[in-house]
Amino acid sequence: MRACYRGRYGRHGIAPEPPDGSRIRPQSGFLAGSAPSTGRRFAGNAAGRIHFFRNNAHNFVPDDTNEGGTTMRRVVFNQKGGVGKSTIACNLAAISAQKGKRTLVVDLDPQGNSTQYLLGNGAEQPDVTLADFFEQSLTFRLEPRKTVEFAAATPFERLSVLPSHPSLEELQGKLESRYKIYKLREALDEVAADFDQVFIDTPPALNFFTRSALIAADACLIPFDCDEFSRHALYALLANAEEIRADHNGRLEVEGIVVNQYQPRANLPQKVVQELIDEGLPVLQPFLSASVRIKESHELARPMIHLDPRHKLTQEFVALYENLGSRKERPGAA
Ligand SMILES: Nc1ncnc2c1ncn2[C@@H]1O[C@H](COP(=O)(O)OP(=O)(O)OP(=O)(O)O)[C@@H](O)[C@H]1O
Ligand SMILES: [Mg+2]
Repeated sequence: MRACYRGRYGRHGIAPEPPDGSRIRPQSGFLAGSAPSTGRRFAGNAAGRIHFFRNNAHNFVPDDTNEGGTTMRRVVFNQKGGVGKSTIACNLAAISAQKGKRTLVVDLDPQGNSTQYLLGNGAEQPDVTLADFFEQSLTFRLEPRKTVEFAAATPFERLSVLPSHPSLEELQGKLESRYKIYKLREALDEVAADFDQVFIDTPPALNFFTRSALIAADACLIPFDCDEFSRHALYALLANAEEIRADHNGRLEVEGIVVNQYQPRANLPQKVVQELIDEGLPVLQPFLSASVRIKESHELARPMIHLDPRHKLTQEFVALYENLGSRKERPGAA
């Protein structure tokens, strides 16, 4: 088995060239376990206890093999709005499907942006959605529908979506009071044989749906928009992920921070990202550029790999996808 870690330093573990014009210094030494204590504000806080993807070769296989057939489930989460969660979830999922993986996007956001991105505006609305799935969990049925029956095929080969619906918002209270927080995890266990990769898009909040997603996932990707406020929000987010890991999902690991809409020539984004790196946080490479092409991609409901495979941002998404680990086993499963 060609096992190797392909984390933030790429498949050969080599620090990449800094992005155009950037003076970012990737930190040496970070790859594993929990973040090193840096003596900075994060050290006494959550960072020293956060579980990041480990550099344990036996935990990883290259993405293009899927040896063992284990589904990899990733949640894309940041409670801050508009940082690129849906964009990143859908584009990574589209690349995964294009590379031959049976891929599922779970759209847990009642706004339904991922659903719209993948199914299109004009397309027929799906007959059943995640709202039906959750409603089913609230009612007794002799013959409940299987989870896979709630998934809709997208126009893209091997790519399906568990679509969102605005009524998810109203359902939340009921689901919470009836302790349905593990339903998504059970549903994803049920479809493990049907999909190789799952990407879960979440709403901009820490609520029932995002907690369900963190409980159901193996790995968490955190989009980051290079803003000073976002950096502060990040620490609370990491602490929340750690709490979920401790209480509900021992296999959840923070795979990394995805820097989005990065402007290499502006000083502030460089400074903010450098601080994250210096604090020992797992900042994934490459950083995603800002591009107006993404708006077109949303409007046409065509992920970048289908709209413009040669575009710089598409290439960055592909490189990011290739830098993600794929786990063969689930060590420490709860
Ligand atoms: N790399 C990028 N370049 C340019 N624009 C981008 C990029 N990534 C995202 N955007 C834009 O930023 C906006 C927010 O993106 P997106 O909807 O993916 O964020 P989100 O975190 O899912 O938002 P929400 O919290 O509302 O669900 C969109 O208008 C999108 O087109
Ligand atoms: Mg979104």
